[in-house]
Amino acid sequence: MLTRRAFGDDFIWGAATSAAQSEGAWNEDGRGPSIWDTFAAQSKNLSGNNGPAKGSDFYHQYPNDIRLLGLLGFKNFRFSISWSRILPNGHGRINQKGLSFYHRLIDLCLLKGITPWCTLYHWDLPQALQDKGGWANRDIINYFEDYVHLVTNEFGDKVKHWMVLNEPTAFTGVGYFLGLHAPGKRGLSQFLPAMHHAALCQPIGEMVIRSNVPNSYVGTTYSCTGIHPHSQSVQDVQAAERMDAMLNRLFVEPAMGLGYPVKSLPVLRKVYDYFGPNDEKILPCNFDFIGLQPYTREVVSHRFIIPYLQARLIPANERSVQHTAMNWEVYPPVMREMVEKFAAYSNVKDIIITENGAAFPDQVIDGRIDDQQRQSYFVNHLKELQNCVLDGLPVKGYFVWSLTDNFEWAESYRPRFGLIYVDYEDQTRIVKDSGYWFQRFLSKTN
Ligand code: GAL
Repeated sequence: MLTRRAFGDDFIWGAATSAAQSEGAWNEDGRGPSIWDTFAAQSKNLSGNNGPAKGSDFYHQYPNDIRLLGLLGFKNFRFSISWSRILPNGHGRINQKGLSFYHRLIDLCLLKGITPWCTLYHWDLPQALQDKGGWANRDIINYFEDYVHLVTNEFGDKVKHWMVLNEPTAFTGVGYFLGLHAPGKRGLSQFLPAMHHAALCQPIGEMVIRSNVPNSYVGTTYSCTGIHPHSQSVQDVQAAERMDAMLNRLFVEPAMGLGYPVKSLPVLRKVYDYFGPNDEKILPCNFDFIGLQPYTREVVSHRFIIPYLQARLIPANERSVQHTAMNWEVYPPVMREMVEKFAAYSNVKDIIITENGAAFPDQVIDGRIDDQQRQSYFVNHLKELQNCVLDGLPVKGYFVWSLTDNFEWAESYRPRFGLIYVDYEDQTRIVKDSGYWFQRFLSKTN
């Protein structure tokens, strides 16, 4: 049985959002454009109202959203800072109005007894920095360091919980290798330097936070996916190993002092071309926690024609398994598989599930959203997590993705992940039944 008490009194319960997906107000109060604004304007699917320009209007609706977060019983809120809202050119001139927005947001959280958890980078690089090469240009490290100094000096007396990067594998892989996310770059000569510079920003971000924020609790977040070979043939098993190196090990291993997983994925060797003389020594981190974001698993088969990986992910609908609106298999054991996998690294201390959730088509009937499928998704994933806690694995918290429906990157607004429904015509909110389920669950003491 799932009970709140089994998780213990100190377990952290929260909900998560990010700036580019929820704030909107893309050109208000002096904000500069981010790579997602530019990417959307150039993409057929994301132009006009399909892009992030309005989001879920969090910039204006945040008092109501934070009120609802509290109403549902969450005591923690994960959000990200829009770099180009506070530094419109990515560096140099500071936009005071941007800083005051985050002061208002943080102050409101604190007033309501909600702990703010701040992600420094959730994919929305200032366009001005992309114009200089973005993550593929080594100068990004200095720009990032300056940005983190600014943010942590400004908010460090009020915010103690920090995440350096959100899912670096996703923003470098999908944005700089596959070109499907902003900034739409492709190929190894973009991806490998972007990957390496992001990996270097993990310890550098950590160091800056620690130097400016006394009593900070510092981590970073990783995408993670259960990886299962399609068959036990040597070829499929090896294909799954390469995929695992790419999707699960790429950033955590350098952070843990193990270097890049080049043995499993030899193409990564070319990254050494981008190494500076001390990089090997800089890469390891000493995080207080790592954030894991398990949503699903992938079944992998060998496929020679796929460059570098020679591996193919077999889509969930092809496998006739239950799946979400993202075509992600609903596979609750991923929780335990991922917690065990990452807890096995000897340098991992605490683990927090910094995102988990599901998109399903929601229907508003008489002002209500009866989202049974999402509710079962949470119940079944939380049961797995509860067992991890009971078995003594070091999981300390869980954040729902997401507080409200919002802009789902290349998928625009179609997939709805929120506990709170957003009507994008007038930005009104309706708490979904899954939100009320959390309210009941979190209010129980047994
Ligand atoms: C994560 C990402 C979030 C959100 C979620 C659902 O990869 O950090 O921004 O979009 O997936 O796709």
